[in-house]
Amino acid sequence: MKMTRRTVLGAALCLGLGFGVAASAYAEKPLVLGFSQVGAESEWRTANTASIKDAAKQAGVTLKFADAQQKQENQVKAIRSFIAQKVDVIAFSPVVESGWDTVLREAKAAKIPVILTDRAVDASDKSLYVTFIGSDFVEEGRRAGRWLLERAKTMPAGDINIVELQGTVGSAPAIDRKAGFAETIAANPKLKIIRSQTGDFTRAKGKEVMEAFLKTDGKKINVLYAHNDDMAIGAIQAIEEAGLKPGKDILVISVDGVKGAFEAMMAGKLNVTVECSPLLGPQLMKVAKQVLAGETVPKRITTEESVFPAEVAAKEFPNRKY
Ligand code: AHR
Repeated sequence: MKMTRRTVLGAALCLGLGFGVAASAYAEKPLVLGFSQVGAESEWRTANTASIKDAAKQAGVTLKFADAQQKQENQVKAIRSFIAQKVDVIAFSPVVESGWDTVLREAKAAKIPVILTDRAVDASDKSLYVTFIGSDFVEEGRRAGRWLLERAKTMPAGDINIVELQGTVGSAPAIDRKAGFAETIAANPKLKIIRSQTGDFTRAKGKEVMEAFLKTDGKKINVLYAHNDDMAIGAIQAIEEAGLKPGKDILVISVDGVKGAFEAMMAGKLNVTVECSPLLGPQLMKVAKQVLAGETVPKRITTEESVFPAEVAAKEFPNRKY
């Protein structure tokens, strides 16, 4: 059993006050979890926040929730405030991958375990966090690429020009989804990424950047690969405003699997979405309790996900939870 701040406290209470009374009083104390969320940039993120809040309620966990509004400095401030408040466990979804070592060392010095959810950090010292719960973003990029490799077999001869809407610069999903996709489509030299720019995971930015792509490359564009559904939905609007048909004139591939993407698929405007589940709340509460009880948990807990092409959208839509 690993000794955390709270297990040490529990043991001390048992020894000092008599096991029976102290142990039951200790068992009733709700776990206090400080959670720093990225923001509210997408339909995915809203579902993720709801999942965490609902699961905390269900599990009897006292949740201290902070919204960082897509800013790393706000996340660092929130983590420092959780340390000052002596919460039992800190969890966060890091907006970007790098720059966490100092604050994570502060949490470690205060003996507060840290759980990463959704996005990873690139800390060289892996002991700075207990576990990372979330998707395999590289695999998501590969899945998007594999779908396109298959589809390309049915497309006319000649180059297939792709534009890419990347997620937030420096974030794990943007880095990994780009890498997984590029690595996979390299198998077909006809597939060419002619433009790639960030749309910051938002609809508004996705639309704005797609408008710029259309202005410079217009009819040359055959495929849009968006790192999330929100940017794809924004871009679909731009494509329609340019007088083109999304899903037909320009194939649209995205990631997440939110209801909005299913609606777009049913309307024939989006061709495929690669699932990335935001429903991480129940697992986070379970793992936080295990960590606090001193149990060993796996260093990496990967979410199981699927791929939904437009052909299955109508059938799957009623089952979607986010
Ligand atoms: O980190 C997960 C990503 O962040 C989701 O794909 C995106 O929609 C969100 O904003």
